[in-house]
Amino acid sequence: MTRHILLLHGPNLNLLGVREPEIYGKYTLEQINAIAAQHASKHNTELRADQSNHEGDLIDILHVARNWADGIVFNPGAFTHTSVALRDAVSGISLPVIEVHLSNIHARESFRQTSLIAPVCVGQISGFGWRSYLLGIDALLGHLGAFRDPTL
Ligand code: DQA
Repeated sequence: MTRHILLLHGPNLNLLGVREPEIYGKYTLEQINAIAAQHASKHNTELRADQSNHEGDLIDILHVARNWADGIVFNPGAFTHTSVALRDAVSGISLPVIEVHLSNIHARESFRQTSLIAPVCVGQISGFGWRSYLLGIDALLGHLGAFRDPTL
């Protein structure tokens, strides 16, 4: 059985690679998506990636994911700290969502230390650079039972 995962990126993450590389790393979004897709494929999982700078578009993408995805790895960018609408979308779609961040949001400015989204997610991964995405995929697959020993 092939699983399907949405990897969703929020605002300004299209600028990865050039945007504050000392905080967010040197890989572009395309490179991260390729690494993530390759990682997912090792676990019989098809990954589709999307990005938007617009809150409403992200909500629409989350809604449509109900029709095809088994779960979502989501970096909501700055909307993490501000968006009740995105939180409601995540809690409304009944799909497991893992929140991921490249930087450790808990070690940064105080306004970044609160996530409105995390409480309606399975969990949050923060601070491991591009590897946060791979950890997020593994966390989601584990949640979906992908690593369960079928003999148990
Ligand atoms: C981020 C952290 C957010 O605070 C910030 O607004 C981002 C990126 C991260 O991946 O570290 O855009 O989500």
